[in-house]
Amino acid sequence: MRKTMFRAMAAALVLIIGFGLSACKKEKPTPAASAEANGVAKMDVKKDLFGRLPDGTQVEIYTLSNMNGLKARIMTYGAILVSLEVPDRSGRLGDVVLGYDALDGYVKNNPYFGAIVGRYGNRIAKGRFTLDGAVYKLAVNNGENHLHGGLKGFDKVVWDAQPRMESNSVGVKFTYLSRDGEEGYPGNLEVAVLYTITNDDELRISYEAAADKATPVNLTHHSYFNLAGGARDILGHELMLAADRYTPVDQGLIPTGELAPVKGTPMDFTTPMTIGSRIAKVEGGYDHNYVLNKADVATGLAARLADPTSGRVMEITTTEPGIQFYSGNFLDGTIPGKGGRVYKKHFGLCLETQHFPDSPNHPNFPSTILLPGRVLKSLTIHKFYTKR
Ligand code: GLA
Repeated sequence: MRKTMFRAMAAALVLIIGFGLSACKKEKPTPAASAEANGVAKMDVKKDLFGRLPDGTQVEIYTLSNMNGLKARIMTYGAILVSLEVPDRSGRLGDVVLGYDALDGYVKNNPYFGAIVGRYGNRIAKGRFTLDGAVYKLAVNNGENHLHGGLKGFDKVVWDAQPRMESNSVGVKFTYLSRDGEEGYPGNLEVAVLYTITNDDELRISYEAAADKATPVNLTHHSYFNLAGGARDILGHELMLAADRYTPVDQGLIPTGELAPVKGTPMDFTTPMTIGSRIAKVEGGYDHNYVLNKADVATGLAARLADPTSGRVMEITTTEPGIQFYSGNFLDGTIPGKGGRVYKKHFGLCLETQHFPDSPNHPNFPSTILLPGRVLKSLTIHKFYTKR
């Protein structure tokens, strides 16, 4: 893992020098630059300063663009996807993720908008688990439970970043070393998250992690999607989830351990349904982990989300066994978001590909324990297109 990281760092250095050189050449318009001036998009990755944390740490933002004009901006704080511009059916670009205009909003009040979540995405009951006979106590930050990595999870740390450009994609690889004992977790954990956008209009997020002690790991991405570009709430979006079962939860949103069938219940999205059609029958709104029928990026579609007004469609494939469908139930309109927009309840929805919540306390769930000497690998693809 370390070797691969060094190799990647060396490659990135070459790229950075390359980018630096191309930046120096800016006075002379290159063919690509004039193509851009003529309205033809080109593949590009560029780095800018986004802001500074209260302690002075500099936070950079990377802008990735593909040949079709699709554009993603991702910053080093929390490896957060700050914006994602995707065309609608008439080719007009719109930002399909919630967030803030400036760093300050993310630092002061972020309900995980766009973030990479870890060391463990979602809840661990009472912040406790037993591993190899030892009891571990994690930071408790959600009632009596541990949520999304604790008080200072991976969404609140500054990651190292290296840009990449390949023949059909541009990307940024973020790396972070989570120290032994951080938020109560055992072992040093090296994490790498690579975001890429391809010329096939995919946003790909791939994860790698390695630890020097056995530890639970569950990495996910927490964008709040609104395919209408934030123009209205998401209750009119149509959702399909390729899941015949889900994991029911108790009052504290901790799984009971059961894998329950969705058939005949408002939880059933095996055929596309608008989110608003049955949400009133689900106490508190949707905030559940679905058990995917097939965890396979090559052939298994996990989710399809469509906004009939803009024509935008997003399909998700993943290697993960589950997906958390969260309908933005805790958004309350108190925090002004991008462009001063007020994000009320259900203004965005999350589709977090993951292992099941509280797995360390449920031996019947797929294991989330990463053993030393092993490398965790996970991939999630968001594919965008439009329909009439
Ligand atoms: C996840 C959880 C929700 C909530 C949000 C963040 O999706 O499942 O219960 O905590 O994150 O607000």
